[in-house]
Amino acid sequence: MAWKGTSPLLLLVWFAASMCGARDRTDLLNVCMDAKHHKTKPGPEDKLHDQCTPWRENACCSVSTSQELHKDNSLLYNFNWDHCGKMEPACKRHFIQDTCLYECSPNLGPWIQQVNQSWRKERILNVPLCKEDCQSWWEDCRTSYTCKTNWQKGWNWTSGSNKCPAKDVCRTFESYFPTPAALCEGLWSHSYKVSQYSRGSGRCIQMWFDPAQGNPNKEVARLYALAMNSRAVPHGVGPLLLSLALILQVWLLG
Ligand SMILES: *[C@@H]1O[C@H](CO)[C@@H](O)[C@H](O)[C@H]1NC(C)=O
Ligand SMILES: *[C@@H]1O[C@H](CO)[C@@H](O)[C@H](O)[C@H]1NC(C)=O
Repeated sequence: MAWKGTSPLLLLVWFAASMCGARDRTDLLNVCMDAKHHKTKPGPEDKLHDQCTPWRENACCSVSTSQELHKDNSLLYNFNWDHCGKMEPACKRHFIQDTCLYECSPNLGPWIQQVNQSWRKERILNVPLCKEDCQSWWEDCRTSYTCKTNWQKGWNWTSGSNKCPAKDVCRTFESYFPTPAALCEGLWSHSYKVSQYSRGSGRCIQMWFDPAQGNPNKEVARLYALAMNSRAVPHGVGPLLLSLALILQVWLLG
């Protein structure tokens, strides 16, 4: 049942917000974006490959997408991680995990935006990535090499896969991305925004999680959808209700 595990207080606010005439934002929950390889609807995928297995219970990616994205120069995007020599495996696993989240997660609805791109109709913008997930990505990649800060544009594609344009020299990640935020936010044109919240807080999206405890991002999407929902309530009643619920929760627990 969809409501299982939801705090009664959040439920109460949700209900109150609905009573106040807010639009039901269930269209933000359990959805797949309209992009190059996503399924139209999320569903179980028992055989998801390797690092994408956390999404087996409910995924927007197919088995073949999950297999392909683990390959160098995968056919999904012909994107070459090793454009400045070999990317360290410790670094590459973060890029694979990032791609698993992008292709497989059914919990990115609150951050989906329409775009006019030839290869996709929708993208994600400012997904609040848990700060530790960004930090470890940056730390594990410091010593690998790249030639650009935004990997979504400006490559030389004449050979079929991305090559560094002549003017952009290969240097360490650290010199192109001086901070974790420079990496996680800059890399894919602000698909991510580094959250001030930590893994396990229920307030940021985790790239890495243990599926034995369920998918923590489901609750995060619900919380943000609710916040967007309450913003739609007239006369600022929604934010008031949400704040009230959070205060109550702190008060009751503390
Ligand atoms: C996409 O392009 C169409 C027509 O060219 C335009 O009407 C629409 O506003 C554009 N959408 C975005 C998100 O830029
Ligand atoms: C792009 O790469 C090709 C070889 O693959 C090269 O001939 C060409 O000069 C490059 N263009 C730029 C702008 O770097």
